[in-house]
Amino acid sequence: MKHFLTQEFNKVYNKEAENVYFSPGRVNLIGEHIDYNGGLVMPCAITFGTYLLVSPNNDGVFRFRSLNFDHKLDIPVQNNYSKTGEYWFNYPLGVIEYFLKDGHPVLGLDMLFYGDIPISSGLSSSASIEVVTAFALNSLMNSGYSKLDLVKLSQSVENNFIGVNCGIMDQFAVAFGENNKALMLNCDTLDYQAVDSNLGEYILAIINTNKPRKLAESKYNERVQECQAALTALQQELDINNLCDIDTDTFNKHSNLITDKVIYKRAKHVIEENDRVKLAAVALSQNNLDEFGSLMYASHNSLRDLYEVSGKELDAVAEYCKTDANVAGARMTGAGFGGCAIALVKESAFDSFSQKVIAYYTDKIGYAPSVYSSLIGNGVGELVAEGKKTKA
Ligand code: GLA
Repeated sequence: MKHFLTQEFNKVYNKEAENVYFSPGRVNLIGEHIDYNGGLVMPCAITFGTYLLVSPNNDGVFRFRSLNFDHKLDIPVQNNYSKTGEYWFNYPLGVIEYFLKDGHPVLGLDMLFYGDIPISSGLSSSASIEVVTAFALNSLMNSGYSKLDLVKLSQSVENNFIGVNCGIMDQFAVAFGENNKALMLNCDTLDYQAVDSNLGEYILAIINTNKPRKLAESKYNERVQECQAALTALQQELDINNLCDIDTDTFNKHSNLITDKVIYKRAKHVIEENDRVKLAAVALSQNNLDEFGSLMYASHNSLRDLYEVSGKELDAVAEYCKTDANVAGARMTGAGFGGCAIALVKESAFDSFSQKVIAYYTDKIGYAPSVYSSLIGNGVGELVAEGKKTKA
């Protein structure tokens, strides 16, 4: 891959790329719509991601090119930037803007991006491009940020430059991911543990519904507000800062404070899902994949019925999985409203699983999903030799 990309850089800029960086995408095993409520999530980095090839220039210009999109941007180095239209280059431009706002100079750069994460699939292509840019700038300009600083900066870009009020999970996962490990992240304290994700005879399947994700961002922001409303109602009696500061029992004792039925359902999902993550961590540590799988199905049902972010496409995948004895569990992953589901599938049965889920889904929905088997990979880093990462 690196060789192909360096050749492409040559073609575009007529010079060598000096550095190549890679940041993965992510899936979340369990703990959905939890990060902005200060609870526990369990994401892992995948092996699809975003490559950034870069070479400084003396022209005082930022040049943004992508092998995925035709739109390009040449913009002089200046003191601030704002979002332009809905183009892909807003993500790296936002990162530059945040470096400058923090008082870290950035000099002219020729950049070429390439991503193999399916766009709009809910596998965090946006966090991936933000973090790869932030990591590259930090290393090229010696800006002195820690990796956690880069995660927070990238989240700020998404919140304030792009306008999506996401939590910290995606940026954290793509920065700190580790081979064959899931990250148990407390989104309130940002303490985390990389836990062995020993899937035994199972592998992780990713099923992309290929549903266009219209309105996903506005509905996402609506859910964030609904959780805020639930928290405000509970704070009348409880001294808490986040919905995830309480468990299901405490919630049940005080839930009468929430009078709006919709807001009640949102809070119930969040608090029960947070409890499920704790159970899932125990199940994973005991290699009890049946239990882990049941928790995945329970999570999916809650996202469908209480949080209302699933949809007939994601539901069709989960429904099929329940009928297949080679699947331990399945659920939608990420924000929802389309995007991807994940399933724990017996490795020996992966091919037949793919065929059957594609047939079931196509029959129900009218077009085919894409099915991938994914490895759990490393977080952001510089690629120094073909396929090898350092400086992560
Ligand atoms: C998106 C957001 C994350 C998280 C998930 C839902 O991926 O970017 O911050 O809220 O949705 O769990």
